[in-house]
Amino acid sequence: MLLRNVEHVDVDAYVRMRCDPVMMAELGGPLPREGMEAKVHRDVQRAAAGTDWTKMIVPDEAEPDVVAGTVTLWPHDADGERISEIGWMVLPEFQGRGLGKQGVRTLLELARDDSRWGLIHAFPATTNAPSNGICRTLGFRLLGEQDVTFAGRVLRTNHWAIDPRVDLI
Ligand SMILES: CC(C)(COP(=O)(O)OP(=O)(O)OC[C@H]1O[C@@H](n2cnc3c(N)ncnc32)[C@H](O)[C@@H]1OP(=O)(O)O)[C@@H](O)C(=O)NCCC(=O)NCCS
Repeated sequence: MLLRNVEHVDVDAYVRMRCDPVMMAELGGPLPREGMEAKVHRDVQRAAAGTDWTKMIVPDEAEPDVVAGTVTLWPHDADGERISEIGWMVLPEFQGRGLGKQGVRTLLELARDDSRWGLIHAFPATTNAPSNGICRTLGFRLLGEQDVTFAGRVLRTNHWAIDPRVDLI
């Protein structure tokens, strides 16, 4: 497994991840197809600028165009405070092989070596068993439940946080 920056060729993977009702079941339902080129373009630009780390999970480095999913670390404002947040998605045919967890661990290792990220937060839905499993087993600490607005929908989430310099297992 390796992580590479998102590229414009990844629109199809974004559509399969973000516009699919099963993939988005724990994220409030599918997003509209028409916004995906713009979303990829924005993510490519931010990855190139280094402000956001949007990485595609590549299971086999011999086939860099075959992507299993994505893991993203980005800064944003939450209740007036600047925080770092991490999120992830793995396509159905690649799920259950440890790729999600390995991708998240790899990005946290990169963040550990870059002082700007500080404490890293994650907000999986309380009902999202594999995502909460990823947080628990990598060393995130559970801070409590929290309502989070994602793409205009309010989700009941578990608020997890990790300092990868000291907590990462
Ligand atoms: C959540 C998601 C990324 C998990 O990816 P994955 O590659 O299948 O996960 P992994 O194989 O790395 O497994 C992660 C952990 O969850 C556990 N797990 C996997 N599937 C599970 C399931 N259906 N129920 C309970 N636990 C599960 C694994 O056993 C593993 O824990 P372990 O290391 O203690 O064994 C993937 O299911 C997904 O993209 N779902 C749809 C989108 C989504 O919900 N994104 C996350 C938003 S926070």
